[in-house]
Amino acid sequence: MEIGSYLREKRILVDDALKDIFASFHITPGPLRDAMEYSLFSNGKRIRPILTIASCEAKGKDPEGILPIACAIEMIHTYSLIHDDLPSIDNDDLRRGKPTCHKVFGEAIAILAGDALLTEAFRIMTDSSYTSRIPNSTLKKIIFEIAYAAGAEGMVGGQVMDVLYEGKEGDKSILDYIHIHKTTALIRAAVRVGAIVGGAKAKELKGFTKYGECIGLAFQIMDDILDEEGDEDAVGKRLKKDHKKQTYIKHYGLTASKLKLEQLVEKAEESIGFLGNNGEALIGLARYLGTRKF
Ligand code: IPE
Ligand code: IPE
Ligand code: MG
Ligand code: MG
Ligand code: MG
Repeated sequence: MEIGSYLREKRILVDDALKDIFASFHITPGPLRDAMEYSLFSNGKRIRPILTIASCEAKGKDPEGILPIACAIEMIHTYSLIHDDLPSIDNDDLRRGKPTCHKVFGEAIAILAGDALLTEAFRIMTDSSYTSRIPNSTLKKIIFEIAYAAGAEGMVGGQVMDVLYEGKEGDKSILDYIHIHKTTALIRAAVRVGAIVGGAKAKELKGFTKYGECIGLAFQIMDDILDEEGDEDAVGKRLKKDHKKQTYIKHYGLTASKLKLEQLVEKAEESIGFLGNNGEALIGLARYLGTRKF
């Protein structure tokens, strides 16, 4: 299947499952519910849940059982964006072509909407009405993976270094720490979790992991490139805002960043070569991530 159609099909699957989950917030205070809904259903690409689904499918398993896990990952991602945009972090007023959560609902509600999305993600993953199709031992393993990737030694750790090194000289190893933690960690986990539930053996999991690491880093390099030379209407964020940040452009320049991105996409493809035809969607996804315009 052509990658554009694949993405559209899976986005609908994820959106429907997220709507289903959202319907379980019956007695959530109105403004909190509205803020969570505003950010969760605002035209995100849904790349992380789609990677989870694609990795599971690549092992020949129906993705129905893993959908709630994929949605939980997207909820964690959405919380990270709400907090990332706050005045005390990146101070952004535009996200996915719309005013950021705190611009619409105020800082207090935006912080709390992020808190709620993060916490509810773990409720969904541990609620057997959603995840009874996954054996408990597997479930425990993948929830650990996701928590580790999102936490102090994963995404949050990366975000902290991103903030601490804003306006500082920094170097390539700091840059890599930031990118590998703030962005790669959750993408890597999204891929691994799909593969684990799909039944990947240890050796295969290594291939999936390498794939996740390559496209995860590629993802943030492209994000840096888009900040530098993307089209604001297409990207839906304010651009040229990263000049004080540790970015690939700052430490390598645009040309070398683009080359690195291409190499990572190629390496990602090689890492899942063992999947043969079953790796078609993951290869399409890697190529898409290497050329995306938003
Ligand atoms: C943006 O992520 C934040 C980064 C990690 C670079 P996405 O580009 O996946 O954002 P949405 O969800 O599609 O808006
Ligand atoms: C954000 O990185 C990574 C997150 C964990 C949210 P950026 O700050 O570069 O993401 P954008 O450009 O605001 O989407
Ligand atoms: Mg940031
Ligand atoms: Mg930001
Ligand atoms: Mg960015």
